[in-house]
Amino acid sequence: MSDPKTYPPSADFVERANLQGLDAYRELYEQAKADPERFWGDLALNELTWFRPFSKTLEWDPPFAKWFTGGTINACYNCIDRHLKTDRRTKPALIWEGEPGDQRVITYEELHRLVARFATVLKGLGYRKGDRAVIYMPMIPELPIAMLACARLGIVHSVVFGGFSAEALKARIQDLDAWVVITADGGWRRGKEVRLKGAVDEALEDCPYVRHVVVYKRTGSGIPMKEGRDVWWHEQDDELGAIPQVEEDAEACPAEELDSEHPLYVLYTSGTTGKPKGILHTTAGYLLETSVSMKWVFDLHEDDVYWCTADIGWVTGHSYIVYGPLAAGATSVMYEGAPDYPAFDRFWQIVEKYRVSIFYTSPTAIRALIRQGDQWPNAHDLSSLRVLGSVGEPINPAAWEWYYRVIGKERCPIVDTWWQTETGAIMISAAPGAVALKPGSATLPLPGIVVDIVDADGQILGNNREGYLIIRKPWPSMVRNIWGDPKRFQEQYWSRVPGSYFTGDAARRDDDGYYWILGRVDDVMNVSGHRLSTMEVESALVHHPAVAEAAVVAKPHEITGQAVCAFVTCKKGDWNHDALGQELRQWVAHEIGPFARPEEIRFTDALPKTRSGKIMRRLLREIVTTHAVTGDVTTLEDLTVVSKLASQQEPE
Ligand code: WT7
Repeated sequence: MSDPKTYPPSADFVERANLQGLDAYRELYEQAKADPERFWGDLALNELTWFRPFSKTLEWDPPFAKWFTGGTINACYNCIDRHLKTDRRTKPALIWEGEPGDQRVITYEELHRLVARFATVLKGLGYRKGDRAVIYMPMIPELPIAMLACARLGIVHSVVFGGFSAEALKARIQDLDAWVVITADGGWRRGKEVRLKGAVDEALEDCPYVRHVVVYKRTGSGIPMKEGRDVWWHEQDDELGAIPQVEEDAEACPAEELDSEHPLYVLYTSGTTGKPKGILHTTAGYLLETSVSMKWVFDLHEDDVYWCTADIGWVTGHSYIVYGPLAAGATSVMYEGAPDYPAFDRFWQIVEKYRVSIFYTSPTAIRALIRQGDQWPNAHDLSSLRVLGSVGEPINPAAWEWYYRVIGKERCPIVDTWWQTETGAIMISAAPGAVALKPGSATLPLPGIVVDIVDADGQILGNNREGYLIIRKPWPSMVRNIWGDPKRFQEQYWSRVPGSYFTGDAARRDDDGYYWILGRVDDVMNVSGHRLSTMEVESALVHHPAVAEAAVVAKPHEITGQAVCAFVTCKKGDWNHDALGQELRQWVAHEIGPFARPEEIRFTDALPKTRSGKIMRRLLREIVTTHAVTGDVTTLEDLTVVSKLASQQEPE
């Protein structure tokens, strides 16, 4: 297989890099491989601040891992307090820009004050270590403040992306058994208010055990407050009285001394069934890999201005807006709104305004912006940029080249970072001062990460063979469990190749050892870099009274990578397909969230099924991808179904 052009790091970049040259990377990789426990153990002692150091680096009882046992630590302390004793005290931790153009610069010192105060509020409401909080907020500083306040007290948080519906929110509150919900009246997106509190009220109708809803006032639109349950953030804060000195505040609300394996958060992600999985991350290991990858992958230096455009509701925001950058002492930009509002240069305007030097975004965002033309980025001074990142889905070489040329002006390495909600931190990516880039490849695994490619029987494959990507050795930021479902955890990730983690992605490795990620091998779609299960959308659709059966597949999409395509059969009746199609799209948005809305609904009299009644999604995938069916259809019950579907005109 002939590989495309490669891009070695420039001498200038290497000279200043944290990892200088391929040999430096290799040496570190070999060191980790030779003695992983020593490697991670030393790193944990050097990178993190401990209350009590750990006595054992790893206890591995597959699939259950405990890292840094015997140690006590606090994630919030590591993200904030420890920086206060250094020059970082007055350094901006967050530079926030609201969509309407409002702005806040929050130093580490100020962040400490805000977090300690909110932690005091939570404490005052009666919440303690081990309790669970659901956070449903717009992209405002109070979102990381709420997360860090929970972490400070050892309250397990679960952030639910603001684009999820009341239904989805409810399922998460119930699964986690959360007693407190932290939200806002709303947030701004494309000039419109996204109301959040209404969805919380709707969700809580079926969660009577939720004791408090803490509401931050962002938009100021009038919302009902339920007596005895709902409290305003600012009123609670006012009750704390005059702002004490930072030192006194810390005294009043110290960071709890927590076990290394204390649960930090649960983040729900789509699996292959209709029910989302609560991915559990714990404290020390997660913090270690998220912060050290800031240095290896983004080549973070003290004077960098770093911006990750993700929403904190997804894992990228947890690891690379909140915990990683703050633990590493970075200055991080956070933006509330949409990339195309008020115009298509909002990203570039922000880069110019704050002199952003490290910029991390998704291929979907890049492709959407390419379409608008080069005049938007070209109108701005982007000379502050020095590292560009990509995450969430494979980046196609054309988008890569544009990003490299038009945004990076051929000066900035692009780190294509492969990882997952479950891995917690970046697993495969170039270290930009060490590894030559190949557009479309995530390149090499990071030190300490041992990956391989296997066939369906779990046999390890050689180079240039397509197979399943697995991770063979435990790593500190790995998922610890599925909340409340250890059996599913074992089955989903650890049963294919015993002792190894099954990623659910297909990949191949080339002769230089570079990994090329080919996409999911399960019933998980990737729409705009957001994970979505076919079953989740199907079960939403069959809830609708008109729908008899539904089968959902991903179809290739020029901008979002994949789009949701639903094949639907109706119950008896005289349906207007145009109107019903619109209604069903809206229905899915209501059941899951607007981002899950099918791009296309195709009505059909029957779905292709095997003789045992299983829907053959493979055929549907072929139909939407190639408009023809080539594969084996011998198990198909009714062959005419497929020919009908394949010949159906694609609706507009
Ligand atoms: C899935 C994980 C990790 C943060 C965002 C998504 C796909 C992720 C890449 C990449 C090709 C990628 C994989 C993976 N993916 N990064 N650089 N190249 N594919 O997190 O929702 O847990 O989804 O996203 O298919 O399994 P997630």
